[in-house]
Amino acid sequence: MTEVSNENRFLHAVEMGLGAWQWGDRIIWGYGQTHTDKEIRETFDVSLNLGVRFVDTAEIYGSGYSERLLGKFLKEIEQPVLVATKFFPWPWRFTAGTIPRALKGSLERLKLDSVDLYQIHWSTPVMSPETMMDGMAECVQRGWTRTVGVSNFDERKMIRAYVALMRHGIPLASNQVHYSLLRRDPEKDGTLARCKDLGIRLIAYSPLEMGLLTGKYSAQNPPAGVRGAQYAEMLKRIPPLIDLMQEIALNHGDKTVSQVALNWLICKGALPIPGAKNIRQAEQNAGGAGWRLTDDEVAKLDEESDKVNQKLLP
Ligand SMILES: NC(=O)c1ccc[n+]([C@@H]2O[C@H](COP(=O)([O-])OP(=O)(O)OC[C@H]3O[C@@H](n4cnc5c(N)ncnc54)[C@H](OP(=O)(O)O)[C@@H]3O)[C@@H](O)[C@H]2O)c1
Repeated sequence: MTEVSNENRFLHAVEMGLGAWQWGDRIIWGYGQTHTDKEIRETFDVSLNLGVRFVDTAEIYGSGYSERLLGKFLKEIEQPVLVATKFFPWPWRFTAGTIPRALKGSLERLKLDSVDLYQIHWSTPVMSPETMMDGMAECVQRGWTRTVGVSNFDERKMIRAYVALMRHGIPLASNQVHYSLLRRDPEKDGTLARCKDLGIRLIAYSPLEMGLLTGKYSAQNPPAGVRGAQYAEMLKRIPPLIDLMQEIALNHGDKTVSQVALNWLICKGALPIPGAKNIRQAEQNAGGAGWRLTDDEVAKLDEESDKVNQKLLP
C-alpha cells in the first residue's frame, strides 16, 4: 500500500463533490428547459453552504459554458472551492503540447491562475498515456494545476499513466470512472483496489446512475430523452433494489434513497460527484455524506445490486 502523497492528500479528505455537466448541457440534461442559470447558481450556493467544496467540470461541458459559469460564480463568493476540470482528447490533439494549451483555455474561462485537479477526460488511440503525462507534467511545472488525474482509464492504462507521471516526480492523484450501485465495474475489475494500493483517489461519476438511483424513475415513469432509451431495460430490473434502499434509508431516520446510493460509494472508499439541477436535489445530495451505512447494510446492497446487474448481462 503506497502512502497518499502530500500533494494529493487534500483530495482524500473530500467526501462529496458536485458535478457540473448539467451546467449548459442541453442534449442530455435539458439545460434551458429543466434548469437555467438561476437554478444552477442556487444549486452551487446550497452545496457550498452544506459543506460541498469540490466542483467537477470539463472543457467540453456545454462547450465551455460550464467552466465559464463556474468562473463567474467563483468571483462572486468568498469561500474557497476546489476546482477540477478536464482535457478532451479530440483526435486532432495528439501531441503533449496540446494539453497545456487546452488548460490555458480552461483557466481563461474559469478566470483562474490554476486549478486543483486537471484530468484527462478519456484515453485515446492517438495519444499514449506516456505522452499525455508529459503534457500533464508541463501543466504542473507551469503552476497551472496543483495535481493530475485521469478519467475512464482502465487499470492497465491507469498504471501506465501512474508510472509515466512518476518519472516526472508527480504522483497520479485520481481516476474518475463510472461507478454506482448499478455500475460496479471498478470494484469487479480491480481498478478500485489498485487505486487504494497506489494512493490514487477514485472519483465516482454518475453516482446516481443519471437519476435512476433516486427512486423517482420507473419503467412506467422513465426519464425524458436519451436517458429513457438508454435505461429502458435497467428500469424494469431495479424495483427490488430501490425497495431495499428505501428500507435502509428509513433505518437512518430521515435519509433518502439518493443519500443511500451516495453513502454506499463513500463506504466503498470512492468520492461521489453527483450532478444536481435544483436546491432540493443539491440539499439531498450534500446529505449523502457525514454518516455511514453499517457493514451489514453495505453487504445487503451489494447482494441486491449484483442480482440486478447479473440480470442485465447478455
Ligand atoms: N468523466 C466522465 O466521463 C464523466 C461522465 C459522466 C459524468 N461525469 C461527472 O459526474 C457528474 C455526475 O454524473 P451525472 O451528472 O452523469 O449523473 P448523476 O450524478 O448520477 O445524476 C444526476 C442527475 O440525477 C438527477 N438528480 C440528482 N440528484 C437528485 C436527487 N437528490 N433527487 C432526484 N433527482 C436527482 C438530476 O437529473 P433529473 O432531475 O433530470 O433526473 C441530475 O441531473 C457529472 O456532472 C460530471 O461532472 C463525468
